[in-house]
Amino acid sequence: MNHLNEATSYLQTKITTKPKVGLILGSGLGMLADEIENPTKIKYEEIPGFPISTVEGHAGQLVIGNLQGVEVIAMQGRFHYYEGYGLEAVTFPVRVMKELGIDKLLVTNAAGGINRDLEPGDLMLITDHINNTGQNPLIGENLSDHGVRFPDMSTAYDRNLQKVSKQVASQLNITLKEGVYVWNTGPSYETPAEIRMLEKIGGDAVGMSTVPEVTVARHAGTQCVGISCISNMAAGILDQPLTHDEVIETTEKVRESFLTFVKQLIKEIG
Ligand code: 6GU
Repeated sequence: MNHLNEATSYLQTKITTKPKVGLILGSGLGMLADEIENPTKIKYEEIPGFPISTVEGHAGQLVIGNLQGVEVIAMQGRFHYYEGYGLEAVTFPVRVMKELGIDKLLVTNAAGGINRDLEPGDLMLITDHINNTGQNPLIGENLSDHGVRFPDMSTAYDRNLQKVSKQVASQLNITLKEGVYVWNTGPSYETPAEIRMLEKIGGDAVGMSTVPEVTVARHAGTQCVGISCISNMAAGILDQPLTHDEVIETTEKVRESFLTFVKQLIKEIG
């Protein structure tokens, strides 16, 4: 049996529900998984074939249960390419979630604002992305049981889920900006010259996650919706250095409205 089947079979012995919506919760939103009712929590290290989380302060577990009346499976803690995992490892949980039955994936992250219409604390609906890394998680033999060799990415972020996101934001009186997310590997932040380039090629925000997961999800036909929390402005936009502390501080400040928004979004899409 391959790793994917092993992981899926293992998880199926632990859960009684069939999750419909997958959640990948980025910086500052992991606590959403603590609100899942009747949760089954499974540490990554327990799951055959799963990569092991290295970042401190990340719980590193799958939480499966009911959130807002919707059967969900949440990754509490995600794997980043900059941690040294291969992209197969980074995206393995997405394949597992698909095997368990999800047909929608909600991804959140913290990102640096490139577009000057954005400010720290803004929530940004991801309308499209730019993979600026030259890496792709689908390189290698195509897993044709999952999807085609050359997957279409014209609607990486599902149009209907974008529409619902905007409706939810407006209902809740939360400002939801929109833009294109650029994936860079990190872990260093960009130089001001790199940010000027990303601005020219059409990027609105930049971060170190999400694109590999969405690429693999789209390969398998899973509908995706992505929300960035603009945690800081990218290099050279403001005359100040970037720190991870600022990222944490901002995500903490907007946590409440981010949580409220994401919960309502789950309810509406589930
Ligand atoms: Cl400015 N760049 C990248 N690559 N990731 C970030 C960021 C910037 N701010 C938060 N995450």
